[in-house]
Amino acid sequence: MKVFTNRALPEKVFQKLQDDGIIVTEWLGQRELTPDEFITYAQEADGIMLMAGMKITADILQQCKNLKVVSLHSVGYDNIDIDAATKLGIAIGHTPDVLSKATADAAFLLMLATSRKAFFHHKRALKGEWKSYGDTNELLGIDIEGKTLGVFGLGSIGYEMAKRSKNAFGMDILYHNRSTNEKAEKELGAKKVSFDELLSQSDIISVHANLTPETKEVFNASAFAKMKPNAIFVNVARGGIHNETDLKAALDNKTIWGAGLDVTNPEPMPIDNPLLNMPNVSVLPHIGSAVKETRDAMMELVVANLLAGLKGEQLPKCVNP
Ligand code: DGY
Repeated sequence: MKVFTNRALPEKVFQKLQDDGIIVTEWLGQRELTPDEFITYAQEADGIMLMAGMKITADILQQCKNLKVVSLHSVGYDNIDIDAATKLGIAIGHTPDVLSKATADAAFLLMLATSRKAFFHHKRALKGEWKSYGDTNELLGIDIEGKTLGVFGLGSIGYEMAKRSKNAFGMDILYHNRSTNEKAEKELGAKKVSFDELLSQSDIISVHANLTPETKEVFNASAFAKMKPNAIFVNVARGGIHNETDLKAALDNKTIWGAGLDVTNPEPMPIDNPLLNMPNVSVLPHIGSAVKETRDAMMELVVANLLAGLKGEQLPKCVNP
């Protein structure tokens, strides 16, 4: 069996696959492959281990004639054409649950950092702008305690964010989701609301939904206009769920108070993006799951999904319907 991966694998994982008789080809470059380059490397592969970022279209899948499984190193699968894969009989695996706590920690960090303009103050300290106590009077933060958190997409990551916010700051929890999350309602007193209610009643909105045609740019000018002027918008899911131009305008016009982003549109965020220099905006380079223990657990699941797919067995965590 042949496997292609678009990032270097940990030595232990590479060795294990080789010991199983699998021929592994790694792309060791730092940049993303172009679709043509990807096809050149992957066209003979029985399996692909895909680290986040690369877009896998129906065309790419069709040209990989031996492909049985694509094992994603992410919970999100918006970068791959699932319908085409299913029609071609290609199993798609992903890594839910094991990264929920780490990703919720990133959302919590962004909420708190934004509320205190922490990244901006850190930059001031670096630039020698810390002159005296009190020189921050023009750059005050806002409290989080007792405020209302609105969770957009209350699955496993949204639940962990709600739990942290409830336990640490006694926040009231609202959520907008297709299905009712009984666990969150029972344990955290979470209340399911319409999208408009979420917008108008939340002090912090934290996005944890998948990127789909329904959620694409749902946070746009019209949504920001319905939010509170002191609201903070946090997104650790996918940058495509917000419209970045509208977000910038909402911050400039003080329609909302601040934003914390672990995901942007495009990624990487260009360094001349003015959002990077706004005191009330915190930007992280898509590091939601970037914790040693979490990444190890993700890789374990990536390998389990890959091996099951190569054997034609049901994947432990399968995306295809
Ligand atoms: C995920 O697991 O979906 C992370 O956002 C990495 O893409």
